[in-house]
Amino acid sequence: MAVRLGDEAPNFTAETTEGTINFHEWLGGGWGILFSHPKDYTPVCTTELGTVAKITPEFKKRGVKVIAVSVDPLDSHKGWINDINETQQTTMNYPIIADPDKKVATLYDMIHPNAIDNMTVRSVFIVGPDKKVKLTLTYPASCGRNFDELLRVVDSLQLTSKFKVATPANWKDGEDCIITPAVNNDEAKTLFPKGVKIVKPYLRYTPQPNK
Ligand code: BEZ
Repeated sequence: MAVRLGDEAPNFTAETTEGTINFHEWLGGGWGILFSHPKDYTPVCTTELGTVAKITPEFKKRGVKVIAVSVDPLDSHKGWINDINETQQTTMNYPIIADPDKKVATLYDMIHPNAIDNMTVRSVFIVGPDKKVKLTLTYPASCGRNFDELLRVVDSLQLTSKFKVATPANWKDGEDCIITPAVNNDEAKTLFPKGVKIVKPYLRYTPQPNK
């Protein structure tokens, strides 16, 4: 069954390149990103894994742990890491789950047989400190993901979990936010002392509250 927003992220225990992990224990009380790859030793995946290794300081800064999964076994992952490090000029610094029996892939519905038979598509799950799924995303095998976009979504999720705001199209950290409809104008003036700009009764902006 598909994993949907608001569902508890299914738990599992699996072998990874950094030892056996229990997913929920590994997450602890923090944020996490689980992302799947079709296959080891494939070109797009190689660039994706290297890209994430390079930007792990950005994830750490936000208290987000990252973990990858593909349906190949551990030995394959370990050999492939050498290629990732060499070709992407980086050092892998987060675990890759070995999922040869497709346990995790099945649990998270990462195999889309009408797209590619027995490999995972490019799925992403952002999980909150409450272990609930906050974002799901599915890309085809042919298109490498934009990991800056994932950082942007994390910024939005973390902000909107603390303040009664939403973030507009193409929002980036530091830009004006939208006041959620549940907040009336009087409340808005108290909650957002930096200012309330009313464009339409349903479209109201405020400077980002925590900046
Ligand atoms: C890739 O990662 O390059 C890839 C994997 C499966 C199908 C197509 C491309």
